[in-house]
Order: sequence, then C-alpha cells, then structure tokens
Amino acid sequence: MPSPTPPINVLATTQPDTLDAFWMPFTANAQFKGAPRLLVRAQGMYYEDVEGRQILDGTAGLWCCNAGHGRKKIVQAIAEQAGTLDFAPTFQMGSPLPFVLAQRLAALAPAGLNHVFFTNSGSEAVDSAMKIVLAHHRARGEGQRTRFIGREKAYHGVGFGGMAIGGLPNNRRQFGLQLGGSAHLPHTLDLQRNAFSQGLPRHGAELADALERLIALHDASTIAAVFVEPIAGSAGVILPAPGYLQRLREICDHHGIVLVFDEVITGFGRVGMPFAAQRFGVTPDLITFAKGASNGAVPLGGVLVGDAIHSSLQQGPTQAIDLFHGYTYSGHPLACAAALATLDVYAEERLFERAIELGEHWQRALHGLQGLPNVVDIRNFGLVGAVELAPRRDAPGSRGYEVFRRCFHDGNLLVRQTGDTIALSPPLIVEPAQIDQIADVLGAMIRATA
Ligand SMILES: Cc1ncc(COP(=O)(O)O)c(C=O)c1O
Repeated sequence: MPSPTPPINVLATTQPDTLDAFWMPFTANAQFKGAPRLLVRAQGMYYEDVEGRQILDGTAGLWCCNAGHGRKKIVQAIAEQAGTLDFAPTFQMGSPLPFVLAQRLAALAPAGLNHVFFTNSGSEAVDSAMKIVLAHHRARGEGQRTRFIGREKAYHGVGFGGMAIGGLPNNRRQFGLQLGGSAHLPHTLDLQRNAFSQGLPRHGAELADALERLIALHDASTIAAVFVEPIAGSAGVILPAPGYLQRLREICDHHGIVLVFDEVITGFGRVGMPFAAQRFGVTPDLITFAKGASNGAVPLGGVLVGDAIHSSLQQGPTQAIDLFHGYTYSGHPLACAAALATLDVYAEERLFERAIELGEHWQRALHGLQGLPNVVDIRNFGLVGAVELAPRRDAPGSRGYEVFRRCFHDGNLLVRQTGDTIALSPPLIVEPAQIDQIADVLGAMIRATA
C-alpha cells in the first residue's frame, strides 16, 4: 500500500538532524544550540514550541505580527496569490498589486507622503531612503549635501547605510570605518530625570538643540538628512519628550535638511495611529516602514516619500529612469497580497485604536512592577513597553538574558531582551487579561532572577 501523503505542514515541524548549518542572526549561536528554543506553530496570541507548550507572544514575533498570528484572511490572500501570479518583475514591468497597495499606504500616511518605494525589509528601506535623499539633493543642485545625522542608541537595520547612522556600538564594532561623514545626536534616555515616567518623559525636549550644534560644526550645506526613530525600539524603548520631534522638524526646515522618521517598529498601530508621526503631530519628509505592514507574514518594507522629494526626481525626460535603485522583489505579489489583507484586518478590527484604548491598562500593569528587585526604570507608550534592570557587575546583559530565558522556559512567555532591558510589544489583539499575564509572569521571573 502506498504511504499516505504527508500533511502539507509537516515540513514546518520537521526536526533537523543538526542545528549547526543555520548560522543564526543576532544570536549567541553556541549558547542557543546548547539549549534551543524552537517554535513550530502560531495562532492568535500564542506560539507553540516543539514540546507542544503554548507560549504567550509578548513581542508580536519581532515587533511585526501586529494582528496576531495565523490570520485566516492573510493566509488565504497569500495562498491565492501564489497560485495566481507568483512573481512579476517591477523593473520596466508591473502587476496591479503594488500600485493598489501603494495607494492604500499613501492614504494611511500623513498628508503629503503620497509615493511608496517598496523593499523587502526595514534595513533596505533605510538604505533606500538614504539614496532617495542623496538623489533628491543632487537633482536640486545641492549634491554636496551628503552627510547623514543619526542618533546614539538608534537602530536603523544592518545595511552599511543604516549601520552608519545607527548608534548601537555592538552593531558597529566588527565592521570597520562605516560610511564616511555621518554624525550622531545624543540619545534621549535619561534615567536620572525621567525614570518610571508613565507615557512620554517630561524632560529632554532640549536635546533636539544638539542638532544646531552639529549644524554649526559641519555646516548645513553638507547635511543631507536627519534620521530618527520616533520611539527607539531595538535599544530598549526610548521615548521622546513632548516637543522634541517638533523641534527637530523646525531645525531641519530652517536649514533645508530632510527629516526621516524610521517607523519600522512604530508604524501600523503600535502607538495608536497608523504612524507615530500622526500620534506625535510631526510630519517628516520620508517614512521608512516594514514589519507590521504585512503582519510579518511575507517580508515587505518600503519608504513613504513626500511630494516635494518625489517631484524633484521627476524632472528628466519621460524615457529617463528617475531612480537607479530597486530590488528584484520590490513590490513582490505575495508580499503585496499579504499587506493588502493585513490592512483589511487592521481596519475591520480597528486594531490601531486598541493601542490607545488599552494604553492605560498596559501602563498600569507594567508600572505595577516598580519596586521589584533590580528594576531601575519602566517605560511605556501605546502598546510598547520596557522594563530596565540594573546590569550585573562585570556581566552586562546577563541579567536581562536570564529573565528572557526564564520567561520562555518557566513562564511560557516570549519577551525581547536587549542588554538588560526587557522590551514588550504584544500583538494589538492582546486582551486585558493577557496584559496582566505578561506583567505577572515577567514580575515572577524578575523576582526569580534577583
Ligand atoms: C527602527 C528600525 N529600522 C530598521 C530595522 C531593520 O529592519 P529589518 O530587520 O527588517 O531589516 C528595524 C528592525 O528592528 C528597526 O527597528
């Protein structure tokens, strides 16, 4: 008798003979492979691991599954698209999907950001934005504006451009001199003045004035753009004081400098509106996005481009290519189908609004951890949060790792560890009882780690 056909999802749960071949990104490979954490399924708010345990997702995967996991509408859209048009080039060719998606995204974005350049990731979005800015200045006869200003503790992905304007020392140390000419603003984390702020911190708007000093040092005529995350996520959720982003906008306007918000984490409802730009009432010239755009189901990123920048690159003859840049998979049909279905789910379930509706409950639950051993700060805004722990002497990061590991193995909870900070960003479908569970488990594991 022929053996029955294995179920289609068998590959997802197939056990590897060895973990050696996959060189895992941003991972202590040897440590992980000694005690792996392997996920095999996901549905709603939960992952399932190889042992069949249900793991509550406190991080929306990696800040990307904002609508939760295994959403039928998204799964179906991807499956149907794969069977209809698996791939279509977008160099001098097209398919309707990326045009439809770009229109939908422009409608969600702040007014004036009406054009979308598609990429596959946040890193590519950042490097694409940098190239768009350079091309824009050159088209306007200001090709000497080549300097980029980032910020300490920023994360803008791992391309050479994003790495140069990023401000996380570990991400730069191994890789030499970086892109020439970048400079950095000070970060806005200030535990002395702002520890345990509920929502935005009171102090620090004046840190934006450091931009004036960089301009005085380097001269505005050399500066192409300022890149900031409205809320720095990867460095452990660093919030801006009210007025900080407005001040950056004013200074950039005054000096003809392009302002870019990297919204790879803050986009798609994380702070209660489509983009943090809208929540903070500050409109940048470009927005980079990824992650939540397609609910993490198929890689997709992009750059939302303001009209002025876009039109500066449309001045050549019609037959001229206006931007010599792009990826084979820019506007990939599967990614676009996933993103369109994702946007439907966000709208149908009013998920963006939930980060505001649940914001107070979230704040109360997290700040209930104040006073636990080694907790030196708690930060929250929208459905983002962080609990910062005091580092162990001579072993920075080890306390944070231990809490993360205990949460997963002993508490059935997935959190994100960055140094000694535990970052939280649950899917926007999270229920109040699950918020309480996240806080309870995290609190117990912090106590157990003391
Ligand atoms: C603000 C920001 N920019 C860029 C990136 C890079 O995105 P990706 O990992 O998709 O390349 C990230 C990833 O976390 C991010 O948080």
